[in-house]
Amino acid sequence: MTEQISYPSVHVKYDPQKLLNLAVRTWFAVTTIGQWAFGAYIVVFYGASTASGDLAKWNQVLPHGYVKGDWAGNLVVEVHVLLAAILVLGGPLQLLPFVRRNAPLFHRWLGRVYVVTAVIVATGGLVMVWTRGAVGDRAQHVSISIQTIYIILFAWQAWRCARARQFDQHRKWALRLFMVVSGVWFFRIGLMCWLVINGGPAGFDPRTFIGPFLTALAVLVYALPVSLGLLELYFYAQKAKKHSIIAAAALLIFGVTALMGVGIFGAIAGMWWPRIG
Ligand code: HEM
Repeated sequence: MTEQISYPSVHVKYDPQKLLNLAVRTWFAVTTIGQWAFGAYIVVFYGASTASGDLAKWNQVLPHGYVKGDWAGNLVVEVHVLLAAILVLGGPLQLLPFVRRNAPLFHRWLGRVYVVTAVIVATGGLVMVWTRGAVGDRAQHVSISIQTIYIILFAWQAWRCARARQFDQHRKWALRLFMVVSGVWFFRIGLMCWLVINGGPAGFDPRTFIGPFLTALAVLVYALPVSLGLLELYFYAQKAKKHSIIAAAALLIFGVTALMGVGIFGAIAGMWWPRIG
């Protein structure tokens, strides 16, 4: 007679929300490293040249940076690039749960500074594009100008909801604001990721900065931001019941994070470090 052995069944409970959480944490860690690297570049390159009065140095990287005699225009550029450091260094800090929980006063003050700075930097950028000109074509200029509108609208909403103590809405508008303020950073790492993958410029002319790839990138980063689409998907997946939707969102975020990692590596090695190293 054969003996029947029954094994206790082992149930490993699969929770896709944990996977989503891990994807978002990984995205945030990679984003923080990349934004702080950009911030370090801004402080070292623009901070040092401004402090030493060597404003002409800006023209090594900005074709329309310093114009002799145009003190007002130069001041707009100076304020734009120096305040930009507050956004890229302060943005990730503002989203850290640890800081929010343990230093609520700091969070409130940095939040006020961030919102006001975002509006000033974006408005200054708008003035720069349409008065001094910038590299790229009209579609790129219109796209980044549309981003200014998002920044002002979202800054106002984040502020309004915080004042009204609607914290769930405040969190959502603050994250949307972070995404659009990060547009110029997404553009840079998107471009560098493309250059790394293609082994050099493709789909645009590196001298004029014009071409279908850059137009598409500007539209998808600034005018119709893919980053906002992904953020809304994350909000949706956080509440979703279907495991497949939550897991698909998590995998998408992992995939985007891997591409961002390539772009950040390219931006540090090929753009920011050579300018300050
Ligand atoms: C709000 C987030 C923004 C940040 C953090 C930011 C940051 C910067 C930085 C660091 C530079 C120097 C570029 C470099 O050294 O690589 C720059 C240049 C510039 N930014 Fe912004 N910016 C922001 C938004 C905008 C917006 C919304 C506009 C336009 C509407 C804009 C227009 C420009 C222009 C025209 C230049 C000069 C580019 C050239 O000479 O071709 N920026 N920005």
